[in-house]
Amino acid sequence: DKPWTVPALLDAKRAGRKLTMLTCYDAGFARTLEAGGVDLILVGDSLGMVVQGHDSTLPVTVEAIAYHVQCVARGARRPLLIADMPFGADATPERALEASIRFLQAGAAMVKLEGAGFKLDVIRFLVEREIPVCAHLGLTPQSVLRLGGFKVQGREAAAGARLREDARAVQAAGASLLVLECVPSALAAEISAELEIPTVGIGAGPGCDGQVLVLHDLLGLASGHRRPRFVKDFLAEGGSVQGAVQAFCEAVRSGAFPDAAHSYE
Ligand code: KIV
Ligand code: NA
Repeated sequence: DKPWTVPALLDAKRAGRKLTMLTCYDAGFARTLEAGGVDLILVGDSLGMVVQGHDSTLPVTVEAIAYHVQCVARGARRPLLIADMPFGADATPERALEASIRFLQAGAAMVKLEGAGFKLDVIRFLVEREIPVCAHLGLTPQSVLRLGGFKVQGREAAAGARLREDARAVQAAGASLLVLECVPSALAAEISAELEIPTVGIGAGPGCDGQVLVLHDLLGLASGHRRPRFVKDFLAEGGSVQGAVQAFCEAVRSGAFPDAAHSYE
């Protein structure tokens, strides 16, 4: 199988083929994710919580993401590798460019960053410099101090309208992909239908163009936090780690996951 490319993601959306994404932090799991048929691997700043043991993603550094991107890149070749921009690293376009160069040189093919607003300038700045960008809207965990916790976003009409505008704006700024986190299913479906770029949902319902889960959640590992509604343990039905990855990919491609029990109305 050929390695994934950025244009192939757009082709997949046009063909109605759902995209599967999991987070990953090391080479061993990367090999298993590739063998299980996952399309996209995200070295997420969830690293701070599931690997480093922090209470939020805020303590994660560029150094740490670059190190884990190198580890994952050695383990998998076919999935498109996305590096998460840690808190503060995208506070200015110049800082974001420096971090992105490190991530691409470490083996990533795309960088992901949270938010719209002034981040639209950051997205444009990176895309003009040949760095593919994945945007991330809805619940943005790096906003935890302002939001006062992790909760569903875009429920009120005004917030929903703003989220739709932001989604159009990140596409216009040049993003190639959009993660929607903890967004009501109907809103995420509207946004997905409206955009040309694929959306990848987590707690955003079945109307997205793909789905992502944190690897530790897929495998039912204790998180030390209250388990969000969208989390599903695929290890039970998969029977093995690779089986869990395959079960996730099949459930996403068939439309069986997420169902209403793992989404927000
Ligand atoms: O850091 C992460 O794992 C993420 C995904 C949950 C999308 O941003
Ligand atoms: Na993240």
